[in-house]
Amino acid sequence: MAKLYVFLATLICIGILFHDGKVGALSSEDGSEEWGYVQVRPKAHMFWWHYKSPYRVENSSEPWPIILWLGGGPPGGSAVAIGNFQEIGPLDLDLKQRNFTWLRKADLLFVENPVGIGYSFVEDYTSLFVKTDEDATTDLVTLLIKVFNNDSFLQKCNLFIFGESYGGKFAATLGLSAYKAIKNGTLKAKLGGVVLADSWISPEDYVFSWAPLLKDLSRIDDNGLQKSNILAEKMKQQLDAGEFSNAFDTWKEVEDVISNSSNYVSFTDFMADVGRNLSTTKKRSFFEISMRRKDDVYNLLNGAIRKKLKIIPKILMWTPWCEGVFNSLKGDFMKPRIAEVDELLALGVNVTIYNGQVDLLCSTKGTEAWVKKLKWSGLQNFLSKDRTPLYCGSERKTKGFFKSYENLSFYWILNAGHNVPLFEPCIALNMVGAITKSPAP
Ligand SMILES: *[C@@H]1O[C@H](CO)[C@@H](O)[C@H](O)[C@H]1NC(C)=O
Ligand SMILES: *[C@@H]1O[C@H](CO)[C@@H](O)[C@H](O)[C@H]1NC(C)=O
Ligand SMILES: *[C@@H]1O[C@H](CO)[C@@H](O)[C@H](O)[C@H]1NC(C)=O
Ligand SMILES: *[C@@H]1O[C@H](CO)[C@@H](O)[C@H](O)[C@H]1NC(C)=O
Ligand SMILES: *[C@@H]1O[C@H](CO)[C@@H](O)[C@H](O)[C@H]1NC(C)=O
Ligand SMILES: *[C@@H]1O[C@H](CO)[C@@H](O)[C@H](O)[C@H]1NC(C)=O
Ligand SMILES: *[C@@H]1O[C@H](CO)[C@@H](O)[C@H](O)[C@H]1NC(C)=O
Ligand SMILES: *[C@@H]1O[C@H](CO)[C@@H](O)[C@H](O)[C@H]1NC(C)=O
Repeated sequence: MAKLYVFLATLICIGILFHDGKVGALSSEDGSEEWGYVQVRPKAHMFWWHYKSPYRVENSSEPWPIILWLGGGPPGGSAVAIGNFQEIGPLDLDLKQRNFTWLRKADLLFVENPVGIGYSFVEDYTSLFVKTDEDATTDLVTLLIKVFNNDSFLQKCNLFIFGESYGGKFAATLGLSAYKAIKNGTLKAKLGGVVLADSWISPEDYVFSWAPLLKDLSRIDDNGLQKSNILAEKMKQQLDAGEFSNAFDTWKEVEDVISNSSNYVSFTDFMADVGRNLSTTKKRSFFEISMRRKDDVYNLLNGAIRKKLKIIPKILMWTPWCEGVFNSLKGDFMKPRIAEVDELLALGVNVTIYNGQVDLLCSTKGTEAWVKKLKWSGLQNFLSKDRTPLYCGSERKTKGFFKSYENLSFYWILNAGHNVPLFEPCIALNMVGAITKSPAP
């Protein structure tokens, strides 16, 4: 099966002969869902899917929120597969109702980003994948303009840009571009805030956090720590020299050392092992991130869901990853986006960070390290504030902590790994209600 994926992933990346460029939007019979393609550049088609919340409250002092969800990866960054069906959408992978769906608090807009991921596609693989975060951002702004500017319903909503994992980098750059496009009138929307969900904002800080964290937890020993530190230092020199592609290669070496010295710790949950049969594949753990039940996802997205959506080109096979997209972004992958977070704060955009306690890839230790690098004038006040404990429902167990100063907020979610709503759905739903100031009860 693994081989089949690789084959299909290759097939999809090496050029789809897509003839009919005209694909518009469709909606479900009751109008509660809408989806479509936007041609963001010639021959580059981005897929979006909007769920309207049945819990919408009108007549409140706060506008109804809409959450734009950007997935992680690339690869494996399909917002539809991971964000929607595995984390926060109305239905789970078995097409059963998800009790803690974020639709209870907001509308949801899933976008397959960048083009080449999931149901989004390009007609020429040799030149149309994005090479930088900014390229992806430009495509996303084009999509938002197409989706929002002709929809007075959406324009009344408060738009929150959520980015998980690598999607966090896109959320930061898109937050800035969307802010500017709204300001100059090209995008008709209201920006509520930017939310960084276990996000890859500072690759250097995450890579440096891994070995010390795992050493303290007995998961690696001093030898592993030393090997990793040597490579991390090498990576830092490459980053400082602006050699981002080399730093990318060194990052992969660090990952191998961590995997090997820990007997394959899971990067999405450092209390677990990588949940797969390592003897049958050469794929590295990173490719498994966020992708549980891969066969089920694959069958669902190429079966029932593509049938329902109707507009997915026949020749396009949904795949969990696209290495072509990943490789195309190689020069940007290791670039930090701390400065963009600073810029958002300086502009007065509300920024919320949340992090799962047992995430290794985008560890809380790494997130705290880059937060301390912010130049934002409120930083010292933010750091010196005490945290508030969080509970969920009637349970008196501590579920997390929260603190906030001016427009920076941080949620620490206990027991959660890389994909917080998947691990801790109850507290995640409360949190999203608070972040978006949802008028829903
Ligand atoms: C909403 O508020 C307006 C004016 O404040 C009122 O006329 C209208 O009946 C309200 N609608 C609902 C559904 O409460
Ligand atoms: C379903 O979600 C609601 C809303 O958050 C919660 O109050 C309820 O306890 C949940 N039910 C179950 C069975 O988890
Ligand atoms: C959407 O487009 C149509 C046709 O171009 C136009 O008549 C209508 O006013 C637009 N609606 C909004 C909300 O911009
Ligand atoms: C508006 O802002 C966006 C985002 O920064 C930019 O791409 C676009 O060129 C601007 N348009 C005008 C008319 O200034
Ligand atoms: C992995 O670790 C084993 C010992 O635990 C060592 O023999 C092997 O060379 C290591 N492989 C890599 C790729 O580091
Ligand atoms: C892992 O792969 C080996 C070799 O193909 C096989 O014998 C074993 O049953 C597999 N284990 C699991 C848990 O799938
Ligand atoms: C905080 O964000 C709000 C919008 O969400 C903005 O109106 C306000 O000016 C910002 N405050 C600061 C101190 O930047
Ligand atoms: C910013 O977001 C936090 C939640 O993340 C919220 O508590 C706060 O009220 C928001 N601030 C503004 C000005 O909207």
